[in-house]
Amino acid sequence: MRTDAVRVEQNVDLRTLNTLRVSARARYLAQLRDVDALPDLLADDRFANLPLLVLGEGSNVLLTRNFEGLVLRVLAQRISETPIDSDSALVCADAGVRWDDLVTWTLAHGYCGIENLALIPGLCGAAPIQNIGAYGVELSDTLHEVDAFDRRLCKQVILSRAECRFGYRDSVFKREPDRYIVTEIRLRLSRSAALKMDYAGIGEELAALDIAAPNAADVATAVRRLRRRKLPQPSILPNAGSFFKNPLVDITRAEALTAAYPAMPHWKSADAERIKLSAGWLIEQAGFKGFREGDAGIASGHALVLVNHGNATGAQLLALAQRVQAKVQQQFGVTIEPEPVVI
Ligand code: EPU
Repeated sequence: MRTDAVRVEQNVDLRTLNTLRVSARARYLAQLRDVDALPDLLADDRFANLPLLVLGEGSNVLLTRNFEGLVLRVLAQRISETPIDSDSALVCADAGVRWDDLVTWTLAHGYCGIENLALIPGLCGAAPIQNIGAYGVELSDTLHEVDAFDRRLCKQVILSRAECRFGYRDSVFKREPDRYIVTEIRLRLSRSAALKMDYAGIGEELAALDIAAPNAADVATAVRRLRRRKLPQPSILPNAGSFFKNPLVDITRAEALTAAYPAMPHWKSADAERIKLSAGWLIEQAGFKGFREGDAGIASGHALVLVNHGNATGAQLLALAQRVQAKVQQQFGVTIEPEPVVI
Protein backbone atom coordinates (compact mmCIF):
# COMPACT_ATOMS: atom_id res chain seq x y z
CA MET A 1 0.00 0.00 0.00
CA ARG A 2 1.42 3.44 -0.93
CA THR A 3 1.85 5.35 2.31
CA ASP A 4 1.84 8.77 0.60
CA ALA A 5 -1.64 8.01 -0.77
CA VAL A 6 -3.26 6.83 2.44
CA ARG A 7 -2.74 7.38 6.17
CA VAL A 8 -4.10 4.82 8.61
CA GLU A 9 -4.49 5.46 12.36
CA GLN A 10 -5.88 3.27 15.11
CA ASN A 11 -8.35 3.98 17.93
CA VAL A 12 -9.24 7.53 16.85
CA ASP A 13 -11.81 9.84 18.49
CA LEU A 14 -14.19 11.06 15.76
CA ARG A 15 -15.43 14.08 17.73
CA THR A 16 -13.83 16.64 15.42
CA LEU A 17 -14.90 14.65 12.37
CA ASN A 18 -18.69 14.97 12.84
CA THR A 19 -20.59 18.27 12.92
CA LEU A 20 -22.72 17.21 15.91
CA ARG A 21 -19.39 17.05 17.82
CA VAL A 22 -20.22 13.69 19.37
CA SER A 23 -17.41 11.57 20.82
CA ALA A 24 -17.08 8.05 19.45
CA ARG A 25 -13.97 6.05 18.68
CA ALA A 26 -13.13 4.33 15.42
CA ARG A 27 -11.01 1.17 15.48
CA TYR A 28 -9.27 2.40 12.30
CA LEU A 29 -9.33 5.69 10.43
CA ALA A 30 -7.95 5.76 6.89
CA GLN A 31 -7.50 9.08 5.10
CA LEU A 32 -7.11 8.66 1.38
CA ARG A 33 -5.39 11.28 -0.79
CA ASP A 34 -5.47 9.29 -4.01
CA VAL A 35 -8.48 7.13 -4.90
CA ASP A 36 -6.26 4.82 -6.96
CA ALA A 37 -5.07 3.42 -3.63
CA LEU A 38 -8.60 2.29 -2.68
CA PRO A 39 -8.50 -1.34 -3.96
CA ASP A 40 -5.24 -2.03 -2.07
CA LEU A 41 -6.58 -0.42 1.08
CA LEU A 42 -9.77 -2.49 1.06
CA ALA A 43 -7.82 -5.66 0.32
CA ASP A 44 -5.59 -5.12 3.38
CA ASP A 45 -5.88 -8.06 5.84
CA ARG A 46 -6.38 -5.74 8.81
CA PHE A 47 -9.71 -4.49 7.41
CA ALA A 48 -11.06 -7.67 5.85
CA ASN A 49 -14.48 -8.49 7.35
CA LEU A 50 -14.65 -5.19 9.24
CA PRO A 51 -17.61 -2.88 8.68
CA LEU A 52 -16.82 0.28 6.70
CA LEU A 53 -18.09 3.79 7.31
CA VAL A 54 -17.32 6.48 4.74
CA LEU A 55 -17.23 9.86 6.39
CA GLY A 56 -17.14 13.19 4.58
CA GLU A 57 -17.38 16.26 6.81
CA GLY A 58 -19.56 14.18 9.11
CA SER A 59 -22.46 16.59 8.58
CA ASN A 60 -25.10 13.92 8.04
CA VAL A 61 -24.29 11.28 10.62
CA LEU A 62 -25.21 10.62 14.25
CA LEU A 63 -22.69 8.39 16.05
CA THR A 64 -24.28 6.65 19.01
CA ARG A 65 -21.46 4.22 19.82
CA ASN A 66 -17.83 3.41 19.04
CA PHE A 67 -17.31 2.10 15.52
CA GLU A 68 -15.53 -1.26 15.51
CA GLY A 69 -14.51 -1.02 11.91
CA LEU A 70 -12.77 1.12 9.32
CA VAL A 71 -13.72 4.77 8.91
CA LEU A 72 -12.68 6.07 5.51
CA ARG A 73 -12.22 9.68 4.44
CA VAL A 74 -11.55 10.55 0.81
CA LEU A 75 -9.44 13.71 0.76
CA ALA A 76 -8.87 14.13 -3.01
CA GLN A 77 -9.85 17.70 -3.88
CA ARG A 78 -9.58 18.50 -7.59
CA ILE A 79 -12.19 20.47 -9.55
CA SER A 80 -12.06 20.60 -13.37
CA GLU A 81 -14.30 21.37 -16.33
CA THR A 82 -14.81 19.77 -19.73
CA PRO A 83 -16.70 22.01 -22.19
CA ILE A 84 -19.69 20.45 -23.99
CA ASP A 85 -20.55 23.46 -26.15
CA SER A 86 -20.26 27.24 -25.88
CA ASP A 87 -22.91 27.33 -23.15
CA SER A 88 -22.45 24.22 -21.07
CA ALA A 89 -19.80 22.01 -19.51
CA LEU A 90 -19.28 19.00 -17.32
CA VAL A 91 -17.86 20.15 -14.02
CA CYS A 92 -16.01 17.36 -12.20
CA ALA A 93 -15.27 17.39 -8.49
CA ASP A 94 -13.38 14.84 -6.40
CA ALA A 95 -15.27 13.40 -3.43
CA GLY A 96 -13.14 15.39 -0.97
CA VAL A 97 -14.07 18.85 -2.31
CA ARG A 98 -16.25 20.82 0.13
CA TRP A 99 -19.66 21.17 -1.51
CA ASP A 100 -19.87 24.90 -0.85
CA ASP A 101 -16.40 25.40 -2.39
CA LEU A 102 -17.75 23.74 -5.54
CA VAL A 103 -20.73 26.13 -5.56
CA THR A 104 -18.32 29.09 -5.26
CA TRP A 105 -16.07 27.67 -8.02
CA THR A 106 -18.97 27.21 -10.47
CA LEU A 107 -20.20 30.78 -9.90
CA ALA A 108 -16.67 32.19 -10.33
CA HIS A 109 -16.44 30.31 -13.65
CA GLY A 110 -19.79 31.67 -14.87
CA TYR A 111 -21.96 28.56 -14.46
CA CYS A 112 -25.39 28.39 -12.89
CA GLY A 113 -27.53 25.52 -11.64
CA ILE A 114 -26.39 24.90 -8.06
CA GLU A 115 -26.57 28.45 -6.62
CA ASN A 116 -29.66 27.50 -4.54
CA LEU A 117 -27.55 24.81 -2.85
CA ALA A 118 -25.03 27.31 -1.44
CA LEU A 119 -23.81 26.78 2.13
CA ILE A 120 -25.00 23.18 2.45
CA PRO A 121 -22.41 21.53 4.71
CA GLY A 122 -20.54 18.41 3.66
CA LEU A 123 -18.33 17.13 0.87
CA CYS A 124 -19.11 16.49 -2.81
CA GLY A 125 -18.77 12.74 -2.21
CA ALA A 126 -21.68 12.87 0.22
CA ALA A 127 -23.92 15.04 -1.97
CA PRO A 128 -25.38 12.23 -4.13
CA ILE A 129 -25.94 9.88 -1.16
CA GLN A 130 -28.91 11.83 0.11
CA ASN A 131 -29.47 13.87 -3.06
CA ILE A 132 -28.95 17.17 -1.24
CA GLY A 133 -31.61 19.77 -1.86
CA ALA A 134 -32.71 23.22 -0.80
CA TYR A 135 -34.82 26.17 -2.00
CA GLY A 136 -36.51 24.30 -4.84
CA VAL A 137 -33.39 22.63 -6.30
CA GLU A 138 -31.92 19.16 -5.82
CA LEU A 139 -28.52 17.80 -6.81
CA SER A 140 -30.27 15.40 -9.22
CA ASP A 141 -31.38 18.39 -11.36
CA THR A 142 -27.80 18.87 -12.61
CA LEU A 143 -25.94 15.69 -11.71
CA HIS A 144 -24.68 13.89 -14.81
CA GLU A 145 -22.62 10.96 -13.48
CA VAL A 146 -21.00 9.58 -10.37
CA ASP A 147 -17.70 7.69 -10.25
CA ALA A 148 -17.65 5.16 -7.44
CA PHE A 149 -15.74 2.16 -6.24
CA ASP A 150 -18.17 -0.79 -6.30
CA ARG A 151 -17.26 -3.05 -3.37
CA ARG A 152 -19.42 -5.86 -4.73
CA LEU A 153 -17.70 -5.91 -8.14
CA CYS A 154 -14.36 -4.80 -6.64
CA LYS A 155 -13.81 -2.20 -9.31
CA GLN A 156 -14.32 1.42 -10.22
CA VAL A 157 -17.71 2.06 -11.94
CA ILE A 158 -19.62 4.99 -13.48
CA LEU A 159 -23.27 5.48 -12.50
CA SER A 160 -25.48 7.57 -14.76
CA ARG A 161 -28.06 9.84 -13.20
CA ALA A 162 -30.76 7.21 -13.88
CA GLU A 163 -28.66 4.51 -12.23
CA CYS A 164 -28.35 6.70 -9.13
CA ARG A 165 -32.16 6.29 -8.69
CA PHE A 166 -32.58 9.66 -7.04
CA GLY A 167 -35.61 10.55 -4.95
CA TYR A 168 -36.32 13.05 -2.17
CA ARG A 169 -33.24 12.69 0.10
CA ASP A 170 -32.78 9.25 -1.43
CA SER A 171 -30.56 7.39 -3.91
CA VAL A 172 -29.15 3.96 -4.76
CA PHE A 173 -26.27 4.82 -2.40
CA LYS A 174 -28.72 4.99 0.51
CA ARG A 175 -30.61 1.87 -0.58
CA GLU A 176 -27.43 -0.20 -0.94
CA PRO A 177 -25.42 1.39 1.86
CA ASP A 178 -22.48 -1.01 1.88
CA ARG A 179 -21.87 -1.11 -1.82
CA TYR A 180 -20.43 2.11 -3.22
CA ILE A 181 -17.68 4.55 -2.28
CA VAL A 182 -18.22 7.75 -4.25
CA THR A 183 -14.94 9.07 -5.67
CA GLU A 184 -16.01 11.84 -8.08
CA ILE A 185 -19.18 13.63 -9.17
CA ARG A 186 -19.82 15.27 -12.54
CA LEU A 187 -22.44 17.97 -12.98
CA ARG A 188 -23.77 19.27 -16.25
CA LEU A 189 -23.98 23.04 -15.85
CA SER A 190 -24.92 25.83 -18.20
CA ARG A 191 -24.04 29.52 -18.37
CA SER A 192 -27.62 30.55 -19.13
CA ALA A 193 -29.96 28.23 -17.17
CA ALA A 194 -33.05 29.92 -15.75
CA LEU A 195 -32.73 30.91 -12.09
CA LYS A 196 -35.14 29.42 -9.55
CA MET A 197 -36.32 32.08 -7.17
CA ASP A 198 -39.88 31.12 -6.24
CA TYR A 199 -39.12 29.33 -2.94
CA ALA A 200 -40.41 31.32 0.03
CA GLY A 201 -37.80 33.75 1.31
CA ILE A 202 -35.52 34.14 -1.72
CA GLY A 203 -37.51 37.00 -3.28
CA GLU A 204 -37.61 38.79 0.09
CA GLU A 205 -33.83 38.47 0.55
CA LEU A 206 -33.18 39.82 -2.98
CA ALA A 207 -35.54 42.72 -2.31
CA ALA A 208 -33.73 43.44 0.98
CA LEU A 209 -30.46 43.50 -0.99
CA ASP A 210 -32.12 45.87 -3.48
CA ILE A 211 -31.34 43.58 -6.41
CA ALA A 212 -33.97 43.82 -9.15
CA ALA A 213 -32.28 41.76 -11.91
CA PRO A 214 -30.40 39.02 -10.05
CA ASN A 215 -27.77 36.71 -11.51
CA ALA A 216 -26.81 33.29 -10.15
CA ALA A 217 -24.27 34.75 -7.70
CA ASP A 218 -26.97 37.04 -6.29
CA VAL A 219 -29.28 34.06 -5.75
CA ALA A 220 -26.45 32.29 -3.90
CA THR A 221 -25.98 35.41 -1.74
CA ALA A 222 -29.71 35.45 -0.93
CA VAL A 223 -29.63 31.74 -0.03
CA ARG A 224 -26.59 32.21 2.20
CA ARG A 225 -28.33 35.07 4.04
CA LEU A 226 -31.48 33.01 4.45
CA ARG A 227 -29.62 29.95 5.74
CA ARG A 228 -27.47 32.01 8.15
CA ARG A 229 -30.63 33.61 9.53
CA LYS A 230 -32.72 30.44 9.86
CA LEU A 231 -30.33 27.56 10.46
CA PRO A 232 -27.71 27.35 13.22
CA GLN A 233 -24.15 27.20 11.82
CA PRO A 234 -22.50 23.90 12.80
CA SER A 235 -19.24 25.72 13.64
CA ILE A 236 -21.07 27.76 16.30
CA LEU A 237 -23.80 25.36 17.49
CA PRO A 238 -23.03 21.75 16.48
CA ASN A 239 -25.81 20.18 14.37
CA ALA A 240 -26.38 17.99 11.32
CA GLY A 241 -28.80 20.18 9.36
CA SER A 242 -32.36 18.90 9.07
CA PHE A 243 -32.53 15.92 11.38
CA PHE A 244 -35.89 14.73 10.02
CA LYS A 245 -37.18 14.32 6.48
CA ASN A 246 -40.43 15.97 5.52
CA PRO A 247 -43.00 13.13 5.70
CA LEU A 248 -45.19 11.96 2.83
CA VAL A 249 -48.72 10.98 3.86
CA ASP A 250 -51.67 9.62 1.87
CA ILE A 251 -54.30 12.07 0.65
CA THR A 252 -56.96 10.99 3.17
CA ARG A 253 -54.68 11.68 6.14
CA ALA A 254 -53.53 14.97 4.63
CA GLU A 255 -57.17 16.08 4.20
CA ALA A 256 -58.03 15.15 7.79
CA LEU A 257 -55.01 17.09 9.06
CA THR A 258 -55.63 20.20 6.95
CA ALA A 259 -59.26 20.23 8.16
CA ALA A 260 -58.09 20.07 11.78
CA TYR A 261 -55.11 22.44 11.27
CA PRO A 262 -55.91 24.86 8.40
CA ALA A 263 -52.52 26.61 8.82
CA MET A 264 -50.51 23.41 8.31
CA PRO A 265 -48.03 23.76 5.40
CA HIS A 266 -48.41 20.99 2.78
CA TRP A 267 -47.26 20.44 -0.79
CA LYS A 268 -47.85 18.12 -3.72
CA SER A 269 -45.08 15.56 -4.04
CA ALA A 270 -43.56 13.70 -6.98
CA ASP A 271 -45.86 10.83 -5.99
CA ALA A 272 -49.44 11.85 -6.98
CA GLU A 273 -50.95 9.68 -4.23
CA ARG A 274 -49.09 11.38 -1.43
CA ILE A 275 -48.81 14.85 0.09
CA LYS A 276 -45.64 16.24 1.64
CA LEU A 277 -45.94 17.81 5.10
CA SER A 278 -43.48 20.03 6.97
CA ALA A 279 -41.70 18.07 9.70
CA GLY A 280 -40.47 21.41 11.12
CA TRP A 281 -44.04 22.65 11.54
CA LEU A 282 -45.24 19.37 13.11
CA ILE A 283 -42.33 19.38 15.59
CA GLU A 284 -42.91 23.03 16.45
CA GLN A 285 -46.64 22.32 17.10
CA ALA A 286 -45.61 19.35 19.26
CA GLY A 287 -43.84 21.88 21.49
CA PHE A 288 -40.22 21.01 20.80
CA LYS A 289 -38.87 24.15 19.08
CA GLY A 290 -36.05 25.41 21.32
CA PHE A 291 -36.56 22.45 23.70
CA ARG A 292 -33.53 21.24 25.64
CA GLU A 293 -32.83 18.11 27.65
CA GLY A 294 -29.33 18.33 29.15
CA ASP A 295 -27.05 19.28 26.25
CA ALA A 296 -29.29 17.69 23.62
CA GLY A 297 -31.72 20.15 22.05
CA ILE A 298 -33.88 21.31 19.18
CA ALA A 299 -32.80 24.57 17.54
CA SER A 300 -34.78 27.62 18.62
CA GLY A 301 -34.85 29.02 15.06
CA HIS A 302 -35.82 25.85 13.18
CA ALA A 303 -37.52 22.82 14.69
CA LEU A 304 -36.02 20.37 12.16
CA VAL A 305 -32.52 20.79 13.54
CA LEU A 306 -31.18 18.71 16.43
CA VAL A 307 -28.34 20.53 18.23
CA ASN A 308 -25.58 19.68 20.69
CA HIS A 309 -25.24 22.47 23.29
CA GLY A 310 -21.95 21.04 24.56
CA ASN A 311 -21.33 17.52 25.70
CA ALA A 312 -24.41 15.57 24.60
CA THR A 313 -23.64 11.98 23.74
CA GLY A 314 -24.93 10.35 20.57
CA ALA A 315 -27.25 8.22 22.70
CA GLN A 316 -28.74 11.33 24.37
CA LEU A 317 -29.29 13.01 21.00
CA LEU A 318 -30.92 9.86 19.66
CA ALA A 319 -33.15 9.60 22.74
CA LEU A 320 -34.37 13.17 22.18
CA ALA A 321 -34.98 12.47 18.47
CA GLN A 322 -37.03 9.40 19.41
CA ARG A 323 -39.04 11.40 21.93
CA VAL A 324 -39.84 13.97 19.22
CA GLN A 325 -40.85 11.20 16.79
CA ALA A 326 -43.14 9.57 19.36
CA LYS A 327 -44.87 12.86 20.22
CA VAL A 328 -45.46 13.77 16.55
CA GLN A 329 -46.79 10.25 15.96
CA GLN A 330 -49.14 10.49 18.94
CA GLN A 331 -50.36 14.02 18.21
CA PHE A 332 -50.72 13.87 14.41
CA GLY A 333 -50.54 10.17 13.52
CA VAL A 334 -47.59 10.99 11.25
CA THR A 335 -44.29 9.10 11.20
CA ILE A 336 -41.20 11.29 10.77
CA GLU A 337 -37.92 9.65 9.89
CA PRO A 338 -34.34 10.76 10.50
CA GLU A 339 -32.43 12.17 7.56
CA PRO A 340 -28.86 11.49 8.80
CA VAL A 341 -27.33 8.05 8.96
CA VAL A 342 -27.61 6.79 12.55
CA ILE A 343 -24.71 4.53 13.58
N1 EPU B 1 -41.68 25.56 9.69
C1 EPU B 1 -42.27 25.72 10.93
N2 EPU B 1 -41.51 25.61 12.04
C2 EPU B 1 -40.17 25.37 11.98
C3 EPU B 1 -39.57 25.18 10.72
C4 EPU B 1 -40.34 25.29 9.58
O1 EPU B 1 -43.47 25.95 11.03
O2 EPU B 1 -39.55 25.30 13.02
C5 EPU B 1 -42.51 25.71 8.48
C6 EPU B 1 -42.13 26.99 7.74
O3 EPU B 1 -42.87 28.08 8.20
C7 EPU B 1 -42.48 26.64 6.31
C8 EPU B 1 -42.23 25.16 6.23
O4 EPU B 1 -42.20 24.68 7.57
O5 EPU B 1 -43.84 26.86 6.05
C9 EPU B 1 -40.94 24.82 5.49
O6 EPU B 1 -39.80 25.36 6.18
P1 EPU B 1 -38.39 25.62 5.45
O7 EPU B 1 -38.57 26.47 4.25
O8 EPU B 1 -37.45 26.08 6.48
O9 EPU B 1 -37.98 24.21 4.87
P2 EPU B 1 -37.97 22.73 5.48
O10 EPU B 1 -38.94 21.93 4.70
O11 EPU B 1 -38.14 22.77 6.95
C10 EPU B 1 -36.19 21.86 3.79
C11 EPU B 1 -34.92 21.07 3.83
C12 EPU B 1 -33.75 21.93 4.24
C13 EPU B 1 -33.64 23.08 3.27
C14 EPU B 1 -34.95 23.87 3.31
C15 EPU B 1 -34.98 24.99 2.31
C16 EPU B 1 -35.61 18.80 4.38
C17 EPU B 1 -35.61 17.72 5.41
N3 EPU B 1 -35.07 19.96 4.76
O12 EPU B 1 -36.49 22.26 5.13
O13 EPU B 1 -32.58 21.13 4.13
O14 EPU B 1 -32.55 23.92 3.59
O15 EPU B 1 -36.05 22.98 2.96
O16 EPU B 1 -35.08 24.47 1.04
O17 EPU B 1 -36.08 18.58 3.27
C18 EPU B 1 -31.04 19.73 5.26
O18 EPU B 1 -31.44 18.81 4.55
O19 EPU B 1 -30.13 19.55 6.12
C19 EPU B 1 -31.68 21.04 5.15
C20 EPU B 1 -31.36 22.05 5.96
